Amino acid sequence: MANQNEISRRRTFAIIAHPDAGKTSLTEKLLLFGGQIQVAGAVKSNKIKKSATSDWMEIEKQRGISVTTSVMEFDYLDYKINILDTPGHQDFAEDTYRTLTAVDSVIIVVDGAKGVETQTRKLMEVCRMRNTPVIIFVNKMDREGKDPFDLLDELEEELMIKVRPLTWPIEQGARFKGVYNIYEKKLDLFQPSKQVVTEKIEVDINSEQLDQQIGTTLADKLRSDLELIEGVYPELDNKEYLDGHTAPVFFGSALNNFGVQELLNCFVEIAPSPRPIEAVEREVEPEEPKFTGFIFKITANIDPNHRSCVAFCKICSGKFTRNAPYYHVRHGKTMRFSSPTQFMAQRKTTVDEAYAGDIIGLPDNGTFKIGDTLTEGELLHFKGLPSFSPEMFKYIENADPMKQKQLAKGIDQLMDEGVAQLFVNQFNGRKIIGTVGQLQFEVIQYRLLNEYNASCRWEPVSLYKACWIESDDAAELEAFKKRKYQYMAKDREGRDVFLADSGYVLQMAQIDFKNIRFHFSSEF
Ligand code: G4P
Repeated sequence: MANQNEISRRRTFAIIAHPDAGKTSLTEKLLLFGGQIQVAGAVKSNKIKKSATSDWMEIEKQRGISVTTSVMEFDYLDYKINILDTPGHQDFAEDTYRTLTAVDSVIIVVDGAKGVETQTRKLMEVCRMRNTPVIIFVNKMDREGKDPFDLLDELEEELMIKVRPLTWPIEQGARFKGVYNIYEKKLDLFQPSKQVVTEKIEVDINSEQLDQQIGTTLADKLRSDLELIEGVYPELDNKEYLDGHTAPVFFGSALNNFGVQELLNCFVEIAPSPRPIEAVEREVEPEEPKFTGFIFKITANIDPNHRSCVAFCKICSGKFTRNAPYYHVRHGKTMRFSSPTQFMAQRKTTVDEAYAGDIIGLPDNGTFKIGDTLTEGELLHFKGLPSFSPEMFKYIENADPMKQKQLAKGIDQLMDEGVAQLFVNQFNGRKIIGTVGQLQFEVIQYRLLNEYNASCRWEPVSLYKACWIESDDAAELEAFKKRKYQYMAKDREGRDVFLADSGYVLQMAQIDFKNIRFHFSSEF
């Protein structure tokens, strides 16, 4: 029962956004409310400066804090909040996709002037795959932006989700007066300040007081806006939100700490506590007494003096206790963890116990692979984390014949960490590395040399997409593999992957082989 109370007060989520929309600013303000930091400006962005994209070491220096800030946890009211950080740079998008498998909900930050941007769209796709509940924060209302009604249409259309505003902006840019909190029926007047949280005034929308506060013209406009909202957007149905079908929308300015508390108060109330998680064998309920968890992320420390990795484990059920014996299902081995860590803003502390919903960091020197399951003995396998078709492909070749073994081991371990994806071409046996961005090739080359003493060389291969294929028609599948034998590969799990060299070729294949399903992610 004690577990039950602990679990139901947990809120584990990620903030996702297109770079520059205001994720760092919002995270910082949430930490301020959680009392984790005292002044604004204390959280460093993990964003990589654009000028440094060609220098991997420089990037790593900037990313130096990423290990400790990967999870931020704090108490707020009666709740325990776990925010999972996601990398700011889109070349590390795969990392973000994986992080999304460990959260129970997300907050999406959208720049009020720019609207929905590419990265937001992609991340939303991942949320949709898992029916993750989504709350949207429209940021930068202190800047001139899009008309809020147009923006709501855009959100619905581009993110393919129904929306329901819970606060509503009164003007924007230099004329921004504040927001009306539809949820609490309070007026929150804007005072540009990075430190102060403004007072909220309870006003009846039809009262004189509203006119006195914002003037008759704006008061009338607000009244008619709200009427329109009530007419067009049905009241928030919590189940619709929890099923990932409707997203509540808030407006504010993260930089000015405006509208953030409304977001947080509503968030803790409506966002889900840890949800059941699917394993291959069965569904695991968070309240089950026995501990289970899976590894969703491994972060390497590039600093040669502290080279150990941290494996991040999401606790799916029960309670984790330090030094207790846990079963590593893939290795069939029992392990004890003497120094598991939890994360407080920029500090790491050793943790004695943690509950479903929490994320713990386990020191790792090669024992873990993304997707590994830990239990109290049960043979459970949490469902595979999805791999998405990479955007870029290169052959990886050995540049030092004396170091063949080191190279193979290095590639193996880096792929276990999820740095990139490996495909082996079935025709010529060559290894192909697929990534989301150019940076990952640099990371791999650098790390192979520094950590495994192996040199690699990249050779170009012109590919468009990797598609996982399946069919109920075995004969057609065989015929396809025969026809495309030069482009057939296996992923690390031994699944068949078709490496299409152009959009046209893929389209033709889809027309010619109607009974074959082509998937752009490994989870289908
Ligand atoms: P990110 O993590 O999503 O990439 O965004 P971040 O919070 O770093 O914000 C990106 C830029 O937008 C920053 O400006 C930040 O100050 C600004 N910003 C964030 N929220 C607001 C807001 O509510 N209003 C306005 N006007 N600006 C906002 P920068 O110039 O890139 O960085 P900095 O020099 O201010 O740190």
